[in-house]
Amino acid sequence: MARNVLLSPSILSADFARLGEEVRALDEQGADWIHADVMDGHFVPNISFGPAVIAAIRPYTKKVMDVHLMVAPVDAYLEAFAKAGSDIITVHAEAGPHLDRSLQAIRNLGKKAGVSLNPGTPESVIEYVLDRLDLILVMSVNPGFGGQSYIHAMTEKIARVKKMIGARPILIEVDGGVTADNAGEITAAGADVLVAGSAVFKGGTPEHYGKNMQAIRAAVR
Ligand code: DX5
Ligand code: ZN
Repeated sequence: MARNVLLSPSILSADFARLGEEVRALDEQGADWIHADVMDGHFVPNISFGPAVIAAIRPYTKKVMDVHLMVAPVDAYLEAFAKAGSDIITVHAEAGPHLDRSLQAIRNLGKKAGVSLNPGTPESVIEYVLDRLDLILVMSVNPGFGGQSYIHAMTEKIARVKKMIGARPILIEVDGGVTADNAGEITAAGADVLVAGSAVFKGGTPEHYGKNMQAIRAAVR
């Protein structure tokens, strides 16, 4: 029996011309959360969308809005994303010198706080902020684009983060190159939440989204 792993499809791979309907389709097809990849063209070499888009899609689903801020510096934007309707706000450990302060600021806004680690960043950088965290997002690609391949070295990092967490109520989320072919390895290592963009949206219709999500769930271990 597969353990309860959550699916948080990334809207980076959605049709941006119909984003609200795409979010509703993900919701109706069984997504647990909605993953919003915010890119600033500075921390990552791509630009996606800002708080106004989060506010625009918010009414299309009641499910958790899981907002991944690939933004640096990030502190000045936390309140806008909180007001726009984010439920979880995740910042990058590499986005600036004051990670502890950013995580406190997110919780002071009444939101759940997450930290994301780029593939090259060791998990040791979050050793002293564990008690500020509700979620750890392990990047399994170099952030900026959907459709990349999973970096297999991250499986070991997921297992080490799992060990580091111990009994703390922190979820491990994995983002980048997740498919039905590697979801078993990734969840066996300790992931609680899977982000998938291209693997969910391939086929281009809500029915495909549902079938693709079921295939990923079926691979969970
Ligand atoms: C950073 C983004 C992507 C996206 C997942 O680049 O965070 O990782 O969510 O895209 P796929 O599932 O297509 O790799
Ligand atoms: Zn993401």
